[in-house]
Amino acid sequence: MNEFFNKDIISIRDLTKENLESIYDSTNKIIDMDSSERREIARGKALGYLFFEPSTRTRLSFQSAMALIGGTSFGIADVQSSSIQKGESLADTVKIMSGYTDALVLRHTLDGSSRFAAEISEKPLINAGSGTEEHPTQAIQDLFTIKKELKKIDGLKIGIVGDLKYGRTIYSLLYGLRNYDVNVHLISPESLKIRTDSTYDIKKELSYTESESLDEYIEDIDVLYVTRVQKERFPDEEEYVKVKGSYVIGHDVVKKMKEDSIILHPLPRIDEISTDVDSMQQARYFQQAEYGKFTRAALLSLILNKDEF
Ligand code: NCD
Repeated sequence: MNEFFNKDIISIRDLTKENLESIYDSTNKIIDMDSSERREIARGKALGYLFFEPSTRTRLSFQSAMALIGGTSFGIADVQSSSIQKGESLADTVKIMSGYTDALVLRHTLDGSSRFAAEISEKPLINAGSGTEEHPTQAIQDLFTIKKELKKIDGLKIGIVGDLKYGRTIYSLLYGLRNYDVNVHLISPESLKIRTDSTYDIKKELSYTESESLDEYIEDIDVLYVTRVQKERFPDEEEYVKVKGSYVIGHDVVKKMKEDSIILHPLPRIDEISTDVDSMQQARYFQQAEYGKFTRAALLSLILNKDEF
């Protein structure tokens, strides 16, 4: 039996290195399969999604992943059009959805929301973003992209830049990177440094530096992971205004990077990567977004099927 069968995916901390590697292997298998074979994997199965926050890539990649493996998906993408608007609780919404589907995907504004919902759901639940806490499937996609594009993860120098305080993708990525032998450089304005309460226990397992200066590292890094300043998480708009536009990766910046380095971004980007970078060879964020369809298809295949495929 495969280890993921019927399992919730709440935090990437719950996954071992072997677990991660087996998701990458399954992803490669799905990429290589022909379409008729893929469509058998989740035939007759349904995925339910509940999105309490806006999403483009995460929701659509889950839906396209489910279609790819022959299943269906439906759900709530806009709380205004559901009974949540009438005051229905998260618990009741999850209970109802789990009765209609074989697996659930939840995005919610609150930290802890996915763990709570997983206790209520009778079906496996996947965290698609819980407050500022985590976004595990994004990190799986990020790690897969690094491995696919650079053929390895061990030994790399990884610069992570932007809003490290509120960006949930950062936390999942750092927890995932603990499994590899990498050097991480965290680059942010002082007020957007990583939250020490969420990272105190990874210090032993992950070597990282913290700095405000991107210039210091730009010529040396293999992966530049750029993030958006998370405007919606700031308690005070004035604080956001002070830090927005702190780092803008333009053509001039990328010119300083190694030729075989790559730039990733979970997207959406606002202004932190100029569009003139898109055609440069280091830009891999659109490729990264596309890989998200395949990593999610692999994860769903493993969760929905007892046997390895
Ligand atoms: C991220 C998120 O929702 O945390 N988006 C995504 O899923 N790709 C990043 C962001 O919103 O900045």
